[in-house]
Amino acid sequence: MPHDIVFTDQCNELAETAREIAEKYVRPMSKKYDELQEYNHEAARAVADAGLFRVFIPKEYGGYGAGILALARVTEELARADSGFGVAFAVNALGSFPIILGGTEEQKQRWLPHIAAGEKFVAFCLSEKFAGSDAGGLSVTAVEDGDEYVICGEKKWTTNGGVADVYSVFCVTDPTSKSRRISAIVVEKGTPGFEVKKVENKMGIRCVPVVETHYDNVRVPKANLIGGRPGMGFKHAMMTLDSARPGVAAQAVGAAQGALDLALVYANRRRQFGAPISSFQMVQKMLADMAMKTEAARWLVYAAASAIDTGLKNTTKGAAMSKCFATDVAMEVATDAVQVFGGYGFMEDYPIAKYFRDAKILQIYEGTNQIQRMVIARNLIKEAESLAHLEDYIPNEEQVSYRGDEVPVDA
Ligand code: CAA
Repeated sequence: MPHDIVFTDQCNELAETAREIAEKYVRPMSKKYDELQEYNHEAARAVADAGLFRVFIPKEYGGYGAGILALARVTEELARADSGFGVAFAVNALGSFPIILGGTEEQKQRWLPHIAAGEKFVAFCLSEKFAGSDAGGLSVTAVEDGDEYVICGEKKWTTNGGVADVYSVFCVTDPTSKSRRISAIVVEKGTPGFEVKKVENKMGIRCVPVVETHYDNVRVPKANLIGGRPGMGFKHAMMTLDSARPGVAAQAVGAAQGALDLALVYANRRRQFGAPISSFQMVQKMLADMAMKTEAARWLVYAAASAIDTGLKNTTKGAAMSKCFATDVAMEVATDAVQVFGGYGFMEDYPIAKYFRDAKILQIYEGTNQIQRMVIARNLIKEAESLAHLEDYIPNEEQVSYRGDEVPVDA
């Protein structure tokens, strides 16, 4: 059902602050950190000083409690300047959501105020070498030993790994159970046996580290078991992704808008056949399509985000739709932006090539777009139960169960 999307003054002000930081600390440094494949600590400090890490943390724990819509708006503005920095910011929300949504009061008091203040960065450790889309098929184990869990195994694709201080790690605590196999446990940087091993060499989003995290008999107190009850991990992971996917979708909207901005400036400036290329209808069509898709994605993201803030039931489908649609748009818009730039677009001398490289991962992480479509379809099929009143308008059972060796009634 449609619902009101309300932009509070606070939400608008936070987005404005994010835009200023993006133009001052992110865009000018974007090329440098992309080339060096290093984290932009200066920009992260500016984000922390401006209080932007408080956006997604509830008020009781030092945050603004500004909600998922505000998180999306801030992420969009940062990603507009540099998609990699957009995820460097938003992944802190992804890593915090298991604690926010599933943690005990003590756990929230312990970690969230530090995350809100930007004193501690966070990472989300779900994927493994052999468990990506099949998030339930994990193999990292956490075995009880007195007051502790002992964690063993390896995690793959940990965004923010090395930079982060707090890791939400999804582990198998009950291999015999089907539905209560997994638990989320917080591992803090510096815990003996915990190591960041392989720092990946990536095609895009190079300013944020993506690593393997290794756990060699890592002992953590049972107090770090998120929610205090084993077996809740898969649910916590799914609830987290439902809340985080509009954030990655917002990153995609920012990336698409950023690529469109550059394509527009270039199309007005670049002259061929004695006129700016923006005066040619085929270029105009590309620019118009890019703008329409970006705007459609933006409002789908705002709708999905504000549905969560409004407390609507079953926001899983909306979150998946926003993620899938917006990230496909980002890839298409970035591709067309390169086309507008012609040969210059293909060169690493200009940032537009980076928008193209950065866009690809959006369709892959936080659940591939194939998984998003599966989630959307599963929900649609479930919802179709409420459409029973339309059954008089479809072929009846005999007609739809035609197997080829029978003549259908109306044939
Ligand atoms: N909310 C709450 N519970 C949920 C849920 C949701 N959205 N979706 C499923 N569940 C529950 C189900 O109700 C079920 O509970 P019971 O056992 O009690 O009945 C249980 O979880 C299992 O559900 P499914 O049978 O639907 O599970 P599945 O094995 O078929 O998998 C899936 C579902 C949607 C494919 C899931 O595995 C998935 O989302 N995979 C993608 C993983 C992913 O997104 N990884 C990204 C990693 S993060 C990342 O990339 C971050 C980064 O670096 C930036």
